[in-house]
Amino acid sequence: MDFQQIFGKPPETQASAPGRVNLLGEHTDYNDGFVLPTAIPQSTKVQLGLSSDSQHHFYSENLNEQVSILDINHTPSGFASYIFGCIQVLQTAGYTIPSLCVYVKSSVPMGSGLSSSAALEVATLRAVRQLLNLPIDDVEIAQFAQQAEIHYAGVQCGIMDQMASSLADTEHILFLDTRTLERRVMPLPEKAEILVIDSGVPRTLASSGYNQRRAECEDAARSLGVKALRDITDVEVTEKLPEPLHRRARHVVTENNRVLEVLQGVSSVRFGELMNASHASLRDDYEVSVPALDILVELLQKTPGVFGARLTGAGFGGASVALVAVGEARSIATHVLEQYKQAGYNGQILVPSLELSDAA
Ligand code: GLA
Repeated sequence: MDFQQIFGKPPETQASAPGRVNLLGEHTDYNDGFVLPTAIPQSTKVQLGLSSDSQHHFYSENLNEQVSILDINHTPSGFASYIFGCIQVLQTAGYTIPSLCVYVKSSVPMGSGLSSSAALEVATLRAVRQLLNLPIDDVEIAQFAQQAEIHYAGVQCGIMDQMASSLADTEHILFLDTRTLERRVMPLPEKAEILVIDSGVPRTLASSGYNQRRAECEDAARSLGVKALRDITDVEVTEKLPEPLHRRARHVVTENNRVLEVLQGVSSVRFGELMNASHASLRDDYEVSVPALDILVELLQKTPGVFGARLTGAGFGGASVALVAVGEARSIATHVLEQYKQAGYNGQILVPSLELSDAA
């Protein structure tokens, strides 16, 4: 079903935004730290038209679900919460948003840690900006999108995903200082490409575990007398903290240092080593991995042609990311997924995208 079939008239405008995969700098953004995401080829498309009644109407093609907003004091759940959140944050910022018909179609996998929610938020905001000619730039789009996620989807997230969806492309890595929003577009490591494999284990406890980690980091920063853990660069300083705050802070400090090392310019081999170290830190210190992801990452790490691998996104399930020798992603994926199956799990290659290249 397309927009016309759902809403009885053609859309007035449309926009899209990509998902992202984070190569390094995990759980650092809400600590004012550094991240290194890149956009993935999968994206979310949003089409808009004015509603002929006084209600917003949202339709998701993927879910074949329509939601009408009868009461704007009541936040809807599911995909509608992100769209509703975007409209509400724009209203709060002083923009008058008319009642809208919104149609969403996405190729970003949901629940894999590739920011399908940020892609939906950024695409929605871009489409509304276009429809109403709003004077907002791409950084503000990311900021509004983050507000929507925090206040309407209930995840106390940082700004990485929304900045990546709004500003990154698939050919480069986006270095971002999440405190100053200073950024630098960098080439992918030499002779390397990105391989993303979903573990097949859906993210569970993602939002409760995530909000808990964030609270622990804030506690650790308070105890150390700094505004955010970003302000600690010497890992020994974290030793005075009680457990688990010590290990949480140690992850953040070492992870920030890994990203800063990449910024100095490193080989693909070194980049891979830093990814491996990041996974160990997320598994042991930050405790956001799950057994399936550990197995998948280990299989990747010992496969020839792989520079390094780690879990990506918030963790608690979802996808792995690996940096691999250029041209070898698919054969490596086939080999690893076979062994992963023998271990009792069903994974899936997400990047390079099979579907998109088949369609092209
Ligand atoms: C989620 C959040 C991001 C970031 C990552 C972990 O994707 O939305 O802000 O904190 O987890 O790095």
